[in-house]
Amino acid sequence: MEMARAELSTGLAALDMDAPVLIQAVPDADEGYEILTTNENITIRGGKRGVLYGAYALMMRLAAGFSPETPWTEPACPLRMLNHWDNMDGSIERGYAGGSFFFRDHHLKYDEQRILQYGRLLASVGINVVSINNVNVHSPAGLLITQTYLPELKQVADLLRPFGIRLLVAVDYALPVTYGLGTADPVSPQVQEWWKRQVSLVYQYIPDLCGFLVKADSEFRPGPHMYQRNHAEGAQPLARALKPHGGVLLWRCFVYNCKQDWRDAKTDRPMAPYEIYTPLEGQFDDNVILQIKNGPYDFQVREPVSPLFFAMPTTNKAIELQLTQEYTGQQIDLFYMPPQWQEIQKTLGENMPKYISAVSNLGDDPNWTGHDLAQANLFAYGLFAWHRNVDPAVCAQWWTRLTFGPDASCNQTIVSMLLSSREIYESYNTPLGLCWMVNPNNHYGPSPEGYEYSGWGTYLRANRDAIGVDRTTSGTGFILQYPEKLAAQYNRVETCPEQLLLFFHRLRYNYRLPSGKTLVQHVYDSHFSGAEQAKALLCAWQMLKGKIPQETYTNVEERLMRQVSNACEWRDVINTYFFRYSGIPDEHGRVIYP
Ligand code: GCU
Repeated sequence: MEMARAELSTGLAALDMDAPVLIQAVPDADEGYEILTTNENITIRGGKRGVLYGAYALMMRLAAGFSPETPWTEPACPLRMLNHWDNMDGSIERGYAGGSFFFRDHHLKYDEQRILQYGRLLASVGINVVSINNVNVHSPAGLLITQTYLPELKQVADLLRPFGIRLLVAVDYALPVTYGLGTADPVSPQVQEWWKRQVSLVYQYIPDLCGFLVKADSEFRPGPHMYQRNHAEGAQPLARALKPHGGVLLWRCFVYNCKQDWRDAKTDRPMAPYEIYTPLEGQFDDNVILQIKNGPYDFQVREPVSPLFFAMPTTNKAIELQLTQEYTGQQIDLFYMPPQWQEIQKTLGENMPKYISAVSNLGDDPNWTGHDLAQANLFAYGLFAWHRNVDPAVCAQWWTRLTFGPDASCNQTIVSMLLSSREIYESYNTPLGLCWMVNPNNHYGPSPEGYEYSGWGTYLRANRDAIGVDRTTSGTGFILQYPEKLAAQYNRVETCPEQLLLFFHRLRYNYRLPSGKTLVQHVYDSHFSGAEQAKALLCAWQMLKGKIPQETYTNVEERLMRQVSNACEWRDVINTYFFRYSGIPDEHGRVIYP
């Protein structure tokens, strides 16, 4: 209540507004709120944290020029998380907006004002849990949950608590080994006891800690497989240590063999999570939440949803999205994500998990996200986590109006840039759901066979006739991991959504798409048009010169110029790749490098 009042008075003063606002507590409610108006005043009614969300909602509505009236609203997801991949040396794994604003020189070292602004930024869109460190827990981050760093961690928890935000910590599964136990075997009584003691200590410092996040047996991280234990056994000691304190264990399902032999055509990487976890249905403790990436691969430009979401009905699940644009333009190229989330929501329907998490796109750049327009993704994520069914266009309109003010023509341009950005990016990037044509390691720019002969399990298997991995019932059988109806749809090339065609099927270059075009002609057309559309984005932005604050204008213009050159590079490399394999020229005789 106090916080809501304080935020409201600061906010309204900053907006130069003076509205008579009453705040009323609704007993027994927590995050829900409503906003009522009479001729005399505005009333925010809400639960313990709801009044704060109501205060922000009111300020946004007033700032955007909308009526304050809001019917009672409650979040669809109780945990709305942001996962930082921040390292304690101040760097950020896959960060494209500068360094960490939490860590420096192996300590929690920050500008307190920035942390308070960050708390406001997140709470204003309803995010209520923050995982503060990288899932790859590089030394000394494992010690965050020990006496060495707990006093520092507590201070951050204290700063964020008034914003209704709880901390979560990514932990190192092998920490008991570091502590001299010689093992982290989850069935060892000493290991179990060690976790109990450690967790009790953590809760003395941070009594409302949300819990732990674990990346185990994945990409060289330690885990229960090292001791021939499965992941349900592996999660147990941590979950049981957290349970008496009300903590949860987020257990990531991003597990696969990253040392595959490319000659092995039987092992199909996207099948791994389902194969590993579904036999464990019913065996996870009730405070374990499996955190599953939205697609079965790894945040590619276009993937189907992970089939794991449809399985394991009695197990808690969280969906993990990626706001940081690792494979989607790295906050240089424009990529507005809500259309992707809307598709996921549509496909999953009631199988959409109750818990939601997203890898942060924030850093210590003055504008938070590197690319000014990438802020829209964080804003929309908060709305999506709260409501689930949000229209990407409405989110874009809200964000644009709140960020750039009421100028309708300017807003129309920005909204349409945002809404078209994903398809533009995809059209000059990896075609038809093929995935993994990026440069290895940094994941920016084209390299069609960059991962082809590597251990990462990400193969295209192109030859002169065809491209793609057959994942149908006559191929690897991945399709059978989906519920029957979806499996049947994906299995037939005629009914498979065009954008996912090469995810599921191996096709000849001269295969005819419903449009009448051959596969290879579609790839050429899409890449030529994508590069042109990237130029059109730049032109659209340049028309706004003078209407946008200069700093923002320059920031976005400079990035759009880089996007144009990136798009041309993608166009030429991918078209050449398809031409060299297929030998089929472009029907329109455009330039493709032989
Ligand atoms: C991707 C990404 C890594 C990250 C990993 C994960 O593979 O490239 O940087 O650690 O995902 O989500 O754990």
